[in-house]
Amino acid sequence: MSDKPDFQVEVTDEQVAFFKENGYLSIERITTDEEVEWLKGIYDKLFGERLGEKDGGYFDLAGKIGHDGRDVLPQVLGPERHFPELRDTIYYRNARHIASKLFGRDEDTLTAGGHMILKPPHYGAETPWHQDEAYWPEEILPLSVSAWMPLDPATAASGCLHFVPGSHRDHIHHHEHINHDPSIHGLFTEEVDVSKAVACPLAPGGATFHHCRTLHFAGPNTTPNPRRAYIVVVNAPPQRLETPLVKPWLQAEREALAKLGKKIG
Ligand code: NI
Repeated sequence: MSDKPDFQVEVTDEQVAFFKENGYLSIERITTDEEVEWLKGIYDKLFGERLGEKDGGYFDLAGKIGHDGRDVLPQVLGPERHFPELRDTIYYRNARHIASKLFGRDEDTLTAGGHMILKPPHYGAETPWHQDEAYWPEEILPLSVSAWMPLDPATAASGCLHFVPGSHRDHIHHHEHINHDPSIHGLFTEEVDVSKAVACPLAPGGATFHHCRTLHFAGPNTTPNPRRAYIVVVNAPPQRLETPLVKPWLQAEREALAKLGKKIG
């Protein structure tokens, strides 16, 4: 976007301390209303045209890869590949800036990449409880923070995020694919004390941040409106492990995708 105003969001020491203690943080505002409106146009084009589907950049997170019929939880990976100007948005810049404060790392040492998850009106599926780290390859120990910004009101009824405070200090829980079907990319874990969960409703242009190990969940969308969310994952340099972690769900998915002749990425 050209002519965009300088809109840098700062987090306070208290907010940084809250994130360190709880593994998540909710902020009221990360970009302008104007930018949210502009992003909706790009978002709707990506999902309307299923951009990147052939290369594994568009798929249904809660359905079998390559299935026919309507997508219940469509996801776009790497929207910046199609619209490089996304990297120059107020949202993207603030996500990187705030993440650097949450990590206590210099911004220059961080990389970032986006994805988008849509919950269509009425039938958008839930995103079951999981840790993002469960998706990472076995030999990598990531240090990442995800910024999550809705373009529509995110409420408990439309699929706002819920977190288990302090769960970023847990180990990596055992995960399974949705419906126990490794041809479905979405993962879930049953090792969650949901009585501790905190819902984070947000207005459009607000954002939550969560650590890659924090347990989180988003309910189905039961409202007549879409719930569009744009996520920017900000990464500190990951650690490469000599002894890979045990994540049998990843191997199961690799085998299922090889059989289908599909890929994700
Ligand atoms: Ni997640």
